[in-house]
Amino acid sequence: MIKRKNIIKIAIDSPAAAGAGTLAKAISKHYNLLYVDTGKAYRVLALNKIKYPKKFNLSFARKIIAKLKIKDLDDKELLSNKIGTEASIIAKKKSIRSLVHKFQINFAYNPPKKYKGSCLDGRDITYNIVPDADLKFYITANVKTRAKRRFKELKVFNKKITYSEVLKSIKNRDKRDLNRKIAPLKKTKDSLLINTTNLNKRACFLKIKKIIDRKIYN
Ligand code: C5P
Repeated sequence: MIKRKNIIKIAIDSPAAAGAGTLAKAISKHYNLLYVDTGKAYRVLALNKIKYPKKFNLSFARKIIAKLKIKDLDDKELLSNKIGTEASIIAKKKSIRSLVHKFQINFAYNPPKKYKGSCLDGRDITYNIVPDADLKFYITANVKTRAKRRFKELKVFNKKITYSEVLKSIKNRDKRDLNRKIAPLKKTKDSLLINTTNLNKRACFLKIKKIIDRKIYN
């Protein structure tokens, strides 16, 4: 694996809809880092599993990941609740995880030259994908706040979706992500805890920026 030297690596783990993606995007823009929403790789596989249930197996999944580009992760189709749920089901499989890891690690350690580094968010980033990150964060918020935020986002694409449906699926996803045997979501000792329940986007950004500035400029 190629590893670029002297790059900044930021690793973030968080449960679903805690605001990590929004924060990671803002941080990446500010510090000129490549942002990788790692959950999207699992979502791409989930989408393909739903579309081609008969064809979907490990070698099919390998081909999809081999062709996957960062810009493919912006596909709006990946955002649905159904795909999020299916992603968390396939993400329990070791064989699927190792395919996705290669994709994630490559971008974390070898971002295109125009970037000063990388910022990845997911569930196992701080201890599995980028264990030597310069900065590690665990971003969370209480489950009702997370469900409210996700409901607002999903409502744009699906007028029929209800808050209670979203709350239920986030709770189920938490259960699966926290309790699975392989690479469960957890806060590592060396990650800084950021609780976004009572913070707006700007306040979250400023809080994290202060921490990063201290680390980078000291
Ligand atoms: O972050 P997002 O909600 O898009 O992730 C979808 C699912 O993918 C998660 O619920 C989780 O099961 C899985 N995932 C993972 N490891 C990551 C990122 C996401 O297992 N690093």
